[in-house]
Amino acid sequence: MWPETIKMKKYKNDLYLKALAGESVKRPPVWMMRQAGRYLPEFMAIREKYDFFTRCRTPELAAEITVQPIRRFHMDAAILFSDILVVPQAMNIPFEMKAGIGPFLPQPVRSKKDVDKVIIPDVKESLGYVFDAIKLTKEMLNDEVPLIGFAGSPWTILCYTVQGQGSKTFEKTKEFCFTRPEAAHTLLQKITDTTIAYLREKVKSGVDALQLFDSWGGMLAPDDYREFSWKYLVQIIDALKDEAPVVIFAKGCWYALEEMSDSNVSAIGVDWTLTPQTARKFTGNKITLQGNLDPSRLLSPPKVIKEIVHKMIDDFGKDQYIVNLGHGILPNIPLKNVQAFIDAVKEYHE
Ligand code: CP3
Repeated sequence: MWPETIKMKKYKNDLYLKALAGESVKRPPVWMMRQAGRYLPEFMAIREKYDFFTRCRTPELAAEITVQPIRRFHMDAAILFSDILVVPQAMNIPFEMKAGIGPFLPQPVRSKKDVDKVIIPDVKESLGYVFDAIKLTKEMLNDEVPLIGFAGSPWTILCYTVQGQGSKTFEKTKEFCFTRPEAAHTLLQKITDTTIAYLREKVKSGVDALQLFDSWGGMLAPDDYREFSWKYLVQIIDALKDEAPVVIFAKGCWYALEEMSDSNVSAIGVDWTLTPQTARKFTGNKITLQGNLDPSRLLSPPKVIKEIVHKMIDDFGKDQYIVNLGHGILPNIPLKNVQAFIDAVKEYHE
């Protein structure tokens, strides 16, 4: 579904926007979550010289990293290089990126007092570097392909903020929600308000679509998902639905697909734990879907990758479909396998 209030911008390649609008296409568009990442030697060269948040905060670096995968593989959409954690950082929650650990917060938010210290920032001031990176990236892309902007879901950001780092269970975050629901909801609302202002400014700076990453949504049982995640995602979706098409990717949340397909999103990303047929059934065959190759399937030989990609397109159908992985690309994927993945889509015909 394409928002009625928005005129579709023209690009040399507009397959991604057409798929979001549900228009019929000769082949589905393709991009990869985390396509600007460590499997690329040119990314690793920049990574050797600059630490993670310097890469995020320097518009020239963020723009260069964003276009790297497009230059090499010509995906049908670019996604701005940044991180979901720049939002909590701007809210006075000082995240670091630690080697071998990932996101790390020396003093996690665990009490009402901690929540009170969290601010709703002026995004133009504290996240201006992101908007500058968007403008620069748009220049470098030269109207070749659309640019996707993104944010983490309030729940997924809460996961890191309360736990203090990544986790297999996020039990401290869940304990916080279940023992101090009021403080949890106050913090979720602050993240939501900041995210809305942030994404609105991203659209003004030039992104063509927005993707919300709820990477840890699947940690929650369905009722808890509604209370601690979906409720806030709906606020973000509804606030932005007239400004840009919004895509939701909630890993592990197959149980929420039906409700999501009844919301104002333009497309839904699905992970690899359900078949295309099941995903279509749960979403009533009425919305554009994105996904859902198991990221480790890119370790298969190129010939096999091509076969499973063609089957995936046959199973989803070529229309109302965006080819992608079911989560981010892994750092150990060979370049020739990525090439096979992209080529398989470009060679597709019915
Ligand atoms: O898709 C893209 O190419 C855009 C770039 C992007 C990054 N992070 C760059 C990044 C996007 C969309 C994200 C989103 C993000 N960040 C999510 C949601 C998507 C997902 O994968 O679930 C999450 C949960 C984060 C938080 C985060 N950032 C983690 C858990 C890590 C460490 C992961 C690891 O494998 O070490 C990061 C770091 C990060 N963000 C890297 C990249 C390319 C790798 C670290 C590095 O380059 O040094």
